Amino acid sequence: MRHRIAQGLELPAAEITPPSLYATRRRWLLSAGFGAGSAVLGLSPDAFAQATAAGPGKLAKLAASRSAVGGASTMEKLTPYNDVTTYNNFYEFGTDKDDPARNAHTLKTRPWTVQVEGEVRKPQTLDIETLLKLSPMEERVYRMRCVEGWSMVIPWVGYSLSELIKRVEPTGNAKFVQFVTLADRAQMPGLRSSVLEWPYVEALRLDEAMHPLTLLAFGLYGEILPNQNGAPLRLVVPWKYGFKSGKSLVKIRFVEKQLLTSWEKAAPQEYGFYSNVNPKVDHPRWSQATERRIGEGGLFDKKRPTLMFNGYEPQVGQLYAGMDLKRQF
Ligand code: MTE
Repeated sequence: MRHRIAQGLELPAAEITPPSLYATRRRWLLSAGFGAGSAVLGLSPDAFAQATAAGPGKLAKLAASRSAVGGASTMEKLTPYNDVTTYNNFYEFGTDKDDPARNAHTLKTRPWTVQVEGEVRKPQTLDIETLLKLSPMEERVYRMRCVEGWSMVIPWVGYSLSELIKRVEPTGNAKFVQFVTLADRAQMPGLRSSVLEWPYVEALRLDEAMHPLTLLAFGLYGEILPNQNGAPLRLVVPWKYGFKSGKSLVKIRFVEKQLLTSWEKAAPQEYGFYSNVNPKVDHPRWSQATERRIGEGGLFDKKRPTLMFNGYEPQVGQLYAGMDLKRQF
């Protein structure tokens, strides 16, 4: 199904995952110890689990240790690598789900720099090699809920975005963080379309960006990110709809005022700034109460209920205390 600007993100037309792909690609190792960080943060110890997610050996390995952040890993069955890397939204490479896997080979991920600027005491431009070494890599298995009504469970590799933020020292004026992603017509055929305003930009409130669950991801399944998943680095914000997680980041700007994001500009009545996963707030054109897990049955299989904040309410609910989440959706 083609996407049109007036319609925004769409429900997929068909799901074509054969049951043979429900591979049990992983072994679970339950961690006995609770990370020190989690105790300090008071996070729920729901899943101190670690997936030894064996990559398929297609890309360079990215070593990672078990995450010490409480609640950072779910024990749910992983979505097969093949689904994670062939059923994508990355409109810079086309709007069909299989377009990014087909087209993103033109993305050049070296050299790569990320400019960090705005309301910070130490603005800087970091190259990808520096970013890869900035903090120890962790594996975190997060649920990902797309606004279109499907979800996946993905073993990401990265570290908390807060590690980078602390290094640049935001000033007292920094209230929001904007994420700007690559927009290069020479590498990205999708930019010829006006489906969105380019570059694709997203933003978080500073406290959301600083939350330990907010991940700067460099890999998945123990290997570097495939281009179609946002190489060489992307954001992953597991309690928000997938579109908040910008791919192929080139700039991070700290600002005082809330800025419009690409999806708010395209369809403000459909996509709000917060975009927290919320089964009680429907998309104007469909319900958000349930979801289809990619890799588990077809289009007509029973859907699973969507959880408030995508199941991360114990960790992030406090961020929204006192807010009317129907109005600020
Ligand atoms: N980032 C960029 N630059 N361009 C995009 O089109 N799509 C978003 C988000 N990040 C998008 C993006 C949407 S709608 C989703 S659901 C997730 O990426 C999909 O990530 P995945 O393909 O790795 O599952």
